[in-house]
Amino acid sequence: MECAAAASGVDRAPIPMARLQQQYASIKDEVDEAIARVVGRAVFTADREVDAFEAEYAAFAGARHGIAVGSGSEAIQFALEALQIQDGDEVISVPNVDVSASSAITHAGARVVWTDIDPRTYNLDPDGLEAKITPRTRAIVAVHMYGNPADLDRIGAIATRHGIPIVEDGCLAVGARYGGKGVGSWGALGSFSFSPFKTLGAYGQGGMITTNDEGLAKRARMLSRHGFLPETLRAIHHQTPGAKFDYEIEGHNGLLDEIQAAILRVKLRHLPAWLTRRRENAAVYRARLADLEPEHLMLPVDTPGGEPVHRVFVLRAQRRDELLRHLVAHRISAGTHYVPPLHFQTAYRHLGLGRGSFPQTELVADELICLPTIPEVAASEIEIVCDTIRAFYRR
Ligand SMILES: Cc1ncc(COP(=O)(O)O)c(C=O)c1O
Repeated sequence: MECAAAASGVDRAPIPMARLQQQYASIKDEVDEAIARVVGRAVFTADREVDAFEAEYAAFAGARHGIAVGSGSEAIQFALEALQIQDGDEVISVPNVDVSASSAITHAGARVVWTDIDPRTYNLDPDGLEAKITPRTRAIVAVHMYGNPADLDRIGAIATRHGIPIVEDGCLAVGARYGGKGVGSWGALGSFSFSPFKTLGAYGQGGMITTNDEGLAKRARMLSRHGFLPETLRAIHHQTPGAKFDYEIEGHNGLLDEIQAAILRVKLRHLPAWLTRRRENAAVYRARLADLEPEHLMLPVDTPGGEPVHRVFVLRAQRRDELLRHLVAHRISAGTHYVPPLHFQTAYRHLGLGRGSFPQTELVADELICLPTIPEVAASEIEIVCDTIRAFYRR
């Protein structure tokens, strides 16, 4: 990449997908204090920092309960298990995303049933949803793709008509809202990821389940704690005399660490400002690339009623692979997140779903390109990205 950059005469700093060192420098004192607090207390398993973060995150998402877990993948898995999905059930999801939702469905013993997407929003297309519902359908995983909320009104209306719960996969959408409410507060359960490059990234892995349902919250909490009631596990960890050792259900070791919770609490305070910066960066892309549409590009369409967070800015580009090489040669990070789609992956080859199975997913996979939106990239740098794209199509 360096050679290509030199060859093209680019002598400015690269424009990356992440500037985590810069982000850390901007909040160093607060983060260092949070880490020191946990290390000084020397309680590393879920305790008061996790409790506080769960409450703060639930309030932020507008949900009654937050259950902190070890990753976004675990959040989806425990959400499905809390719904008691089991052998022979079917769960509907989309194929244009990472494996977490689909593998969680399979690991729960159910059959994953994919449905195609809307090629403008990249989200589950409600028009095709009803045809996928059978008497065995036990849940719908609505993914808020790239941080753009799925059409929860229409998906919700169909789900309600059939009595099927929705699990929102908000792993790419921490901070997104729909209809004035936080995503994750709409469905039966929501799931979120705090892996390092997400809009709210831990210094390691992390995740959260949200729900408004007391019973689901209790079950999800036990699932993440080996199957113990939270108070039982707390008593065991603190070696409280008389602590009973009783698993209520078969659970997992799926807790968020204290240290990650302490860091995430700091970062959550900064998140609204960071999301504003992401939205500003997305607005620059829209303003500066609009006239390339539709001949060269298709800009993403925000779901009506949604407030996206732009984990990345995803557009569809003619001559995508050439454009990617052009951007990389100009020291601009660009990617193709979640290509090829799941039905072309080795793990799912046994399903025999060839080309044409999900035409809109395939169309988007052939054309999509993900561009940086991070708060640490200045609007002037986004303008450079846009000008580099413009130069590509004009040459
Ligand atoms: C849509 C979606 N769901 C779930 C996950 C899994 O999250 P995690 O990496 O925290 O397990 C990801 C990860 O990128 C994702 O993009």
